[in-house]
Amino acid sequence: MPRTIRLSDGKQIPALAWGNGSSGLLASGEMASSLGAIVLRAGITHIDTAQGYHTEAETGESLKASGLSRGDVWITTKETKTTPEDVKRSVEESIARLGSIPDLLLIHNPFVPEHGKIGEFWTYLEALVHDGTLKGCSLGFSNFRPKDIEEVMAVATIKPVCHQLEYHPYVLTHLEPVLALQEKYGIVTEAYGPLTPILRHPGGPLKPVLEKISQRLGVDAGTVLLLWTMQKGAVAVTTSTKPDNIKKLATLNSMEGLSQEDMEEIERVGKTVHFRHYKEHMTKDFPSPDLPDGK
Ligand SMILES: NC(=O)c1ccc[n+]([C@@H]2O[C@H](COP(=O)([O-])OP(=O)(O)OC[C@H]3O[C@@H](n4cnc5c(N)ncnc54)[C@H](OP(=O)(O)O)[C@@H]3O)[C@@H](O)[C@H]2O)c1
Repeated sequence: MPRTIRLSDGKQIPALAWGNGSSGLLASGEMASSLGAIVLRAGITHIDTAQGYHTEAETGESLKASGLSRGDVWITTKETKTTPEDVKRSVEESIARLGSIPDLLLIHNPFVPEHGKIGEFWTYLEALVHDGTLKGCSLGFSNFRPKDIEEVMAVATIKPVCHQLEYHPYVLTHLEPVLALQEKYGIVTEAYGPLTPILRHPGGPLKPVLEKISQRLGVDAGTVLLLWTMQKGAVAVTTSTKPDNIKKLATLNSMEGLSQEDMEEIERVGKTVHFRHYKEHMTKDFPSPDLPDGK
């Protein structure tokens, strides 16, 4: 059984997601489709896609090829760019490409709506839930700064359940105000880029900590980071282009967790550094902390 996290609307979201928005997969639709089926058959039952990745149709194909029923799979997609008049059409086109209504629809970033109109945009999505276009679909957002979250909360009658953002130990200090709001409003984190401390910022102060824990547990450092992410109560949105790695990722569902001491040490050491890989949204009007990048 996949690990799940309970959302504020009562649904259980699988805590491990495979994204088809990373560069290796975007290069080839066929690869996104065939790997997606391998992912689902391996027991990772959550696929993360987006209009902007152009992999929604492949997500639907993966589901068909896997032989799994729709109810056994969680699909997250994201509204990437549209005008207010076009929201309904754009969502309907996503549904047609996916072959079903997604389980979760996110606003991909705060610049998808026109400036100053995030709250208004949210109400358009709510209207689509109410008129049945998005029947049963949960709503959320991605790459939102504190002021963007507050704009939604000021108008929301359907509460956002998830916030997808770059999340790993090296962004924790910067994210403090964002995470405080999520706690206040019961919004679950979906963590993309969770392997950044080993892939995009290797050799930082977490290296010896991850090595020590991974040696003790007999797993690799990436596995330790993904376990840490899920034990923090976040959905780990990772990916792999290699069937063997996909099978390894699926074993996370049944793996024993980290100790409290491991969890605290990773967090404490991670918070001494600030490093963000995906800079395009969360840095504008949201200053980074005055910390070294730890290299
Ligand atoms: N909302 C947004 O704006 C946004 C932005 C970025 C990403 N995303 C979503 O998040 C997904 C994942 O993003 P990401 O690429 O940043 O994730 P990531 O988990 O940080 O990195 C994934 C990479 O890690 C490698 N990997 C997998 N397991 C590993 C392990 N145990 N040890 C070492 N390396 C391992 C994979 O390589 P191999 O292929 O070699 O296995 C893969 O290339 C995307 O596909 C997309 O769906 C969303």
